[in-house]
Amino acid sequence: MNCYIHGFGAYVPERILTNDDLAAMVETSDAWITSRTGIKRRRILADGERTSDAGTHAAREALAEAGLAPSAVTHLLFGTCTPDQFCPSTACITAAKLSLSNNAVAYDFNAACSAFLFGLLQCRALLAAEPDACVLLICGEALSRRLNWQDRSTCVLFGDGAGAVICSHRKEGALARLEDVVCATDGSLRDLISIGGGSARRYDLGDPVGEDFFLSMQGREVFKHAVRSMAQICKDILARNALRAEDVHMLVPHQANIRIIEAVNSRLNFPKERVFTNLADYGNTSAASIPLALYDARKQGRMPSGTRVLMTTFGSGLTWAAGLLRME
Ligand code: ACO
Repeated sequence: MNCYIHGFGAYVPERILTNDDLAAMVETSDAWITSRTGIKRRRILADGERTSDAGTHAAREALAEAGLAPSAVTHLLFGTCTPDQFCPSTACITAAKLSLSNNAVAYDFNAACSAFLFGLLQCRALLAAEPDACVLLICGEALSRRLNWQDRSTCVLFGDGAGAVICSHRKEGALARLEDVVCATDGSLRDLISIGGGSARRYDLGDPVGEDFFLSMQGREVFKHAVRSMAQICKDILARNALRAEDVHMLVPHQANIRIIEAVNSRLNFPKERVFTNLADYGNTSAASIPLALYDARKQGRMPSGTRVLMTTFGSGLTWAAGLLRME
């Protein structure tokens, strides 16, 4: 059963936070952030703007490109680790904002930064079970809400945004075909990146939030695992599809850190011009990172018909994945 993409959408908030802005908030500098991460600026949601708002904007654009009304959507899958609230799901909230049919199945899933590829894995399985399904996959984050703005080792890395695609088994009018996707997890490494505030700790009315409420990360350890796992899973997906590096026209990696991307690529050996990055403008937008990168790469004309795209990601969990797209 084929999984085709019929529309791409993206959204980033208007507000831009530059490295110089951050240098006025914590002890850091544009030079440090740029040389250690490649990030120059990131987008931050306005007060009152939520993950579901970002997702709704991205979804509207994807639906418009697919030429579909919201009523055509049978399933809405929302990948996020920064939902609007615990309950109801951000998918249900977004379904209401989009006026989806009441018959649409809407739910959230959390694979942190790996959400887009885990989501494509779900889309492929769903379409195999229900060939008439029209799946709206949205991946969006409001990471700025869960950053400790006094912790310079994490607050400089992340940004907000959302991306969306429409998937169905219809070949007519398709923009891309999912050739394959492989996902992996290792929960024994769960403490390397975490965001608390859940049932692990008791909160009573009036309690102040503690450090555990915000994102925490062991940067150097994450760096090592990220490089190793992404390089290996890229090799695995190429091998199981009998492809060589030369058969791939574009590598779209998770936009976490330029040094991680370069280290992964030093193991894969793609020519530099075949590696897409936009992290200088958005920072690490977690679940939204790959769909935002695909969207920008298309907009820049770097993914014409026939292009084979290798996507790869890693994130909290740990989770990691690789996927192959062929542009129609
Ligand atoms: N500005 C200035 N100095 C800083 C900053 C900052 N913003 N942050 C840390 N430093 C200092 C540290 O305090 C340390 O100082 P010390 O040597 O006096 O102790 C020094 O810089 C070096 O710190 P390291 O952590 O060793 O720096 P490193 O080169 O490893 O870079 C970074 C840190 C950028 C976090 C890197 O480790 C990294 O990118 N790791 C991967 C992070 C990542 O991609 N996470 C994605 C997870 S996404 C998800 O699932 C939500």
